[in-house]
Amino acid sequence: MSSDSANAEGSLDALLSEERRFAPSAAFRARAVLSDAGVYALATADREAYWAGWASELHWFSRWREVLKWKPPFAQWFAGGKLNVSYNCLDRHVQEGHANRVALFWEGEPGDTRTYTYGELLAEVCRFANGLKGLGVKKGDRVTIYLPMIPEVVVAMLACTRIGAIHSVVFGGFSPESLSDRNNDAAAKVLVTADGGWRRGTVVPLKANADEALAKSPTIEHVVVVSRGGSLSEQVGVSLRPGRDHWYHDLIATASDVCPAESMDAEDTLFILYTSGTTGKPKGVMHTTGGYLTQVYATTKSVFDLHDDDVYWCTADVGWITGHSYVVYGPLSNRAQVVIYEGGPDWPDRGRLWQICERYGVTVFYTAPTAIRSFMRWGEEWPEKSDLSKLRLLGTVGEPINPEAWIWYHETIGARRCPIVDTWWQTETGGIMITPLPGITETKPGTATLPFPGIDIAILNEKGEPTSAGYLAITSPWPSMLRGVWGDEERYRKTYWSQWKDVYFAGDGAKRDEDGYYWILGRVDDVLNVAGHRIGTMEVESALVDHPAVAESAVVGKKHDIKGEALAAFVTLKEKHAGSDALMKELREHVGKKIGAIAKPDLIVFTADLPKTRSGKIMRRLLRDIAEGRAVGDTTTLADPAVVRKLQTQYQED
Ligand code: WTA
Repeated sequence: MSSDSANAEGSLDALLSEERRFAPSAAFRARAVLSDAGVYALATADREAYWAGWASELHWFSRWREVLKWKPPFAQWFAGGKLNVSYNCLDRHVQEGHANRVALFWEGEPGDTRTYTYGELLAEVCRFANGLKGLGVKKGDRVTIYLPMIPEVVVAMLACTRIGAIHSVVFGGFSPESLSDRNNDAAAKVLVTADGGWRRGTVVPLKANADEALAKSPTIEHVVVVSRGGSLSEQVGVSLRPGRDHWYHDLIATASDVCPAESMDAEDTLFILYTSGTTGKPKGVMHTTGGYLTQVYATTKSVFDLHDDDVYWCTADVGWITGHSYVVYGPLSNRAQVVIYEGGPDWPDRGRLWQICERYGVTVFYTAPTAIRSFMRWGEEWPEKSDLSKLRLLGTVGEPINPEAWIWYHETIGARRCPIVDTWWQTETGGIMITPLPGITETKPGTATLPFPGIDIAILNEKGEPTSAGYLAITSPWPSMLRGVWGDEERYRKTYWSQWKDVYFAGDGAKRDEDGYYWILGRVDDVLNVAGHRIGTMEVESALVDHPAVAESAVVGKKHDIKGEALAAFVTLKEKHAGSDALMKELREHVGKKIGAIAKPDLIVFTADLPKTRSGKIMRRLLRDIAEGRAVGDTTTLADPAVVRKLQTQYQED
């Protein structure tokens, strides 16, 4: 990043110097898990003791010898300690008398429902763990899980952890090729899939996709197929290859519901999760057992302020890290009552999520800014149809949230009553790193605020010197940090540890304001340099979304002969607004007014939809390709490839 942008910064800061502040109410604070700001100093005074305190709330077969061993870039947390993740998520709750407490409220897209108590979930996990053992799965073996959002996906993950197998969950929306790549990279022995799942009224044919992948997955010895049930399984015929493929229900029918939990070392690998990087090949991010569980347990409890009477819903798919840490491991290790929904948010209508909130009495709701912007676009008549009065805490994750969307979330969904936790973290960090604590932190729309207690964050320049606007860095090891990239130590070192000595490079740009709050500016490659001035794409996007006609926008850099880079903005309008030259001019003026003339986009393209990954991230790389008239790169992770085709033709016609 260049540092010659003092002038630009002054005006850019205008957007981010958010005046609105939201302190926790006295009532919220009085009941909060954490309400004393002294926790920050306590954690700083002795980080290791602080984390050991959290770890002590888990069940250990035997205690660790040492809290942290740090030989950069390799950390060991709780070395020598023995524990089991499924034991912590299930057995100990049952032993403490909570066998009949609901663990999962599941709802399928067509409206079918299932509920599992902690006792039932434990029995099912044991049966499937025994089933996997019967297929020859042993400690350390890799199991790929390619399932829709049905209870069996949670069962499969926990069954792996029970016997010490390493799971690699592949998002159900990924293509056969992505699946076989992941099977092969991990040399997985077993694949767990389903006949299909529902998504916006259509069947996702998982077994058919898996069959295509299996033709190129030589390491897979056995395939377990869950019957999704209902009309789906009647419609979708699947063929099972004798000897290799097994119905899940057959496998567990004869399996015992008792399966001792394997005693795992704190540093044994718990799972691999593939994530895209700057190269075309996804990285297998590795997480281990003791530190990971400690941090996701601690953050779930304190950031989501979990109490016994809460009903918790994180809308992420388990195919992403948010699903791992905040649908499954964090909530279940906290004995939470968890809602899981299979399908699309606008199926059969745009009120679906709010109906689910009402039906189960959801109190804590965690979703992504992109979803919030869709809700905004759909209009408040949808949430208004449901009773959301039980909601008491809202969360967001995945990308910077523009203040406009934050305020909408606060007012329309939270009825001005619910604190919002904007949580910054990554697949690599495993757990939440920067976040408000809802009973302590005064929030400001658009900032993830402060590092979680016991987490050391800094903003550094290229040379590693502290600055108030630059690269986001993590300066001390943390319990749930990634332990490597599967099979590629070099990539681990290079991607995360080569920018500075012994400091983690997060790949995000950030600013710190006068309160010490962190504002995430987006990926470093999304931070543009226009005529020597640094501009965060998110800042321009916020300014655009601030205009009453705009629902969502994505801003990318476009090569420019004189300025180096110019801004191209792709804009979707709210219903009842149409794109026109006059509006284009108005939007440029609006951005100019909000930020400054340097931030006015050179190009504005109106579009009905933005290309997004299936996890909801806008694919700016593709937009850059379109803006620069290049052939469009890989679109396999796109939620709807047609969006790109439409955009391309439209842009060529413009
Ligand atoms: C972005 C998702 C701003 C960031 C858990 C990060 C955020 C990347 C936030 C990781 C937030 C995540 N504010 N940006 N609250 N949370 N990001 O691996 O760019 O899918 O590096 O993990 O998302 O995405 P990932």
